Amino acid sequence: MTKKYIVANWKMNPQTTKEADLIIRSISKVAKGNKHLEIIVCPPYPFLYLFRKLRSKNLFLGAQNSFSEKEGAYTGEVSPSILKNFGVKYIILGHSERRKNGENNQIVNKKILLTLKTKINPILCLGEEKRDNEGDYLIFIYNQIKECLDGVLKNQIKDIVFAYEPIWAIGQQAEREATADEFIEMKIFIKKVIADLYDVKTAENVKVIYGGSVDESNTSSFMNQGQADGLLIGRNSLISKKFIEIIKLIK
Ligand code: PGA
Repeated sequence: MTKKYIVANWKMNPQTTKEADLIIRSISKVAKGNKHLEIIVCPPYPFLYLFRKLRSKNLFLGAQNSFSEKEGAYTGEVSPSILKNFGVKYIILGHSERRKNGENNQIVNKKILLTLKTKINPILCLGEEKRDNEGDYLIFIYNQIKECLDGVLKNQIKDIVFAYEPIWAIGQQAEREATADEFIEMKIFIKKVIADLYDVKTAENVKVIYGGSVDESNTSSFMNQGQADGLLIGRNSLISKKFIEIIKLIK
């Protein structure tokens, strides 16, 4: 059975070390009994240090971003190689909340290439702002994939987790969550694009997870009907009780 990915994107939360510590301890406990999952916790940078000891065979540390250059005079930035010191195995790249602040596909592409070179797995976020009946959103996603993967080699695709996160489904202001059917359509589409850009065999192994208003009520539908390879969870990954319930629903 292939592993499923559960990514906790804490964004700029919580505000204290104490709270962060409490959440990670409860996740660590539940991770032990769910070996079929790859649980990836992505806290704000300063909390990474706190979690080093809690890493295990199926509980990994992730970062929410990294810079596109390896080292040098870049005030306020953090490179994948610095993150590697903290045991970071995954980096979320191209999240819509960063794209909103000016990060385009070319910048995401540079970050992907450097992250792969550092032997860290990128979690590449893809997602349209709104859907239309003409299928323009598919062209938008196609361009995101093509431009973000520019220069990525065929044998590196397996190291990337693709996260489909439609912008209209993210956060408290979300219009609504996506449906399992909308997700599976996109999963097939992403694989088709990879087959076109690389080949069918490479596309077969592509992992696509869903993100956007995931909670206990829709987890099973994305995982079963939607055949998601995992979930990327924002808000509800900070509420231990909810996050643990979500984990338990994934069999
Ligand atoms: P949400 O966030 O689960 O709070 O909608 C998901 C994300 O932005 O990664």
